[in-house]
Amino acid sequence: MDTKVYYVDEHSDEKIKEAAEVIKRGGLVVFPTETVYGLGANALDEEACRRIFEAKGRPQDNPLIVHVADFDISDYVEYIPENAKKIMENFWPGPITIVVKKSSRIPMLVTANLDSVAIRMPSNKVARKLIEYAGVPIAAPSANISGRPSPTTIEHTIDDLMGKVDMIIGGDKCEFGLESTVVEVLDEKVTILRPGAITRDMLEEIGLNVDIDPAILTKPYENLKPKSPGMKYRHYAPKAEMTIITGRIERAVDYINMKIDEMKSKGKLVGVLATDETKDLYRGGYIISVGSRKKLGLIAANLFDTLREFDKIDVDYIYAEGFEEDGLGLAIMNRMKKAASYNVINL
Ligand code: TXA
Ligand code: MG
Repeated sequence: MDTKVYYVDEHSDEKIKEAAEVIKRGGLVVFPTETVYGLGANALDEEACRRIFEAKGRPQDNPLIVHVADFDISDYVEYIPENAKKIMENFWPGPITIVVKKSSRIPMLVTANLDSVAIRMPSNKVARKLIEYAGVPIAAPSANISGRPSPTTIEHTIDDLMGKVDMIIGGDKCEFGLESTVVEVLDEKVTILRPGAITRDMLEEIGLNVDIDPAILTKPYENLKPKSPGMKYRHYAPKAEMTIITGRIERAVDYINMKIDEMKSKGKLVGVLATDETKDLYRGGYIISVGSRKKLGLIAANLFDTLREFDKIDVDYIYAEGFEEDGLGLAIMNRMKKAASYNVINL
């Protein structure tokens, strides 16, 4: 398939309209959002959505997020719980997805046969214009081949999906760089199914009682299936085996230096996911700083690009410094643990 690539910004109305036409006639369009790039199709068109799964190689039991540009979502849901309204009023448009009971307008393929639907209103202006011009909600998972790190630049999407979609639009690097917070609102009970830039603290600040799906915090196993189907897959995975070192940072640096020496003697290259504070303390290896420990937002924004870079360099092992699991650190560590298949050493 020929894939058209358009570098656009929010003022590129003609090009965005052309992309919207592709969506209307059942095609696939990769587009930017403030979290990660999405792979979009008309959410009300089952055949179009089927092509999303094919292009990504995505398992059919993993439901899609429906992206809207209008606060009136009544056509797509059974009803809107008060607590869901509160979240929408406070955080939409933005990086949070709500899971509520679906209406019959949303095809079962989109929700992977669940009776709930995930809905989000992105803040990225290109995304919003695309949805508005298309005149339909857009179902979109992250625009990566299944199992690879989510794309945070247009180049990542070109690497993964060139020839598999009708059009790729975008240009800007994604502002947040981690996928949206997914929060289920069942009756009035609020549960975080996937941590993201809108944190538990932020939800509690608007007066909500918030649970966290326990499967987020540990490795999923038989009796602890995550409620969000997508959370169970190995994800974000770089090609090399990855280990995260948590605990005191000085100890992590010492341990990783020991590994660098050990692997070097075996002719192997170690990639180190370091930070600005530590990057000069390593002796050898391929060192990438994801940013300063004082700016978790930038670390989140750089994480997936860093994982993809280790793939390009073809390192044999990756050792990564860990982060505190609170605030945005919870989302960062959740993605890192999945990338590392829950290989964590606490020192
Ligand atoms: O930031 C984002 O959310 C990006 C951009 C493109 O909007 N999209 C994204 O989509 O990350 P995807 O498909 O990679 O992740 C969607 C997550 C999966 O973990 C999926 O299982 C969960 O949302 N999900 C979707 N519908 C659900 C439902 N009805 N119940 C529970 N989890 C659901
Ligand atoms: Mg994804």
